[in-house]
Amino acid sequence: MDVQIIDKVFRPFISAEQISEKVQELAVRINADYAGKRPLVIGILNGSFIFAADLFRGLTVDAEISFIKLASYKGTSSTGNVVTAIGMEENLKDRHILIVEDIIDTGKTLSSFLPEIHARQPASVKIATFLSKPEALQHEVHADYCAFEIENKFVVGYGLDYDGLGRNLPALYILK
Ligand code: IMP
Ligand code: MG
Repeated sequence: MDVQIIDKVFRPFISAEQISEKVQELAVRINADYAGKRPLVIGILNGSFIFAADLFRGLTVDAEISFIKLASYKGTSSTGNVVTAIGMEENLKDRHILIVEDIIDTGKTLSSFLPEIHARQPASVKIATFLSKPEALQHEVHADYCAFEIENKFVVGYGLDYDGLGRNLPALYILK
């Protein structure tokens, strides 16, 4: 069934069952890749909180999780907008970091934030994203784990919002 959020109508796109199956597949790969490494999973709020929770529940390896918020502010004209992390208290040095995002759209958010992670000298950095829109990508960001590659259209549900709403929808919906 279609859902209306504010002024827009969305149609069902990826079911809760399909999502859960795909997220579990990613967890199985992550378990194999991170055995004995005690990864620190870093979820990017707000959008990733549901994906991060489901993915993390699928992990059987020892793993820690923490969440950060990204705030973007105007840098100098040469640096453009700068993205900085709020709430990153963990020591990342020599840790295996797995960043968890809701969606890589243009790639701008992650590409401007990743240097901040690398500056803290982690042992490794990988990215898990629930969605990516390959056609929208403008910055060089590579997702190591991606549940679904989708067309360049606006989606809501499973943590993703339209103007703050729709995050609680258990399935993914796409703009009609
Ligand atoms: P990027 O910096 O362009 O990769 O943008 C990523 C951010 O834009 C995501 O973390 C989302 O908050 C938001 N975003 C991009 N596309 C969508 C969408 O289709 N639905 C909801 N949020 C989106
Ligand atoms: Mg987001």
